[in-house]
Amino acid sequence: MAEDLLILKGTKKEQYESLLPQIIGLLEGETDLIANLANISAALKEQFGWFWVGFYLVKVDELVLGPFQGPVACTRIRKGRGVCGSSWQQATTLVVPDVELFPGHIACSSLSRSEIVVPLMHNGTVVGVLDVDSSELDQFDETDKLYLEKIVSLINW
Ligand code: SME
Repeated sequence: MAEDLLILKGTKKEQYESLLPQIIGLLEGETDLIANLANISAALKEQFGWFWVGFYLVKVDELVLGPFQGPVACTRIRKGRGVCGSSWQQATTLVVPDVELFPGHIACSSLSRSEIVVPLMHNGTVVGVLDVDSSELDQFDETDKLYLEKIVSLINW
């Protein structure tokens, strides 16, 4: 496994296309979940420079903070609460262009302005979420949804 990430500039699609095989390389041969989630967070943060990138994992009836990159964050989120808890409840990706307009948004940081949350599916149920926050409004779209869903589908459970 290469330990340095090659950071390509370009369109968002080009950046994901360059990152995707590198993430596949990082995951190859490694079965430890925490190690893999940690490296995915680091790779996304390094390529895109987003404010916060990380995982919450379902533990009994809550989401609990997992590996992440960025400032300290809320540790527990209940089902249906905030963007993460809503994505879990609905088992669908949520793109939020302005977090202040999302009812019940949980502000772990007042610097977060837009967000995308992608559910992690295993055997037909949501086992966690990938949460990405930007300090700029309206930073996420269908391209992020497509590639982030592809990236989380690579995780071995
Ligand atoms: N804003 C999220 C909470 C998690 S933090 O942003 C890291 C939410 O509303 O679910």
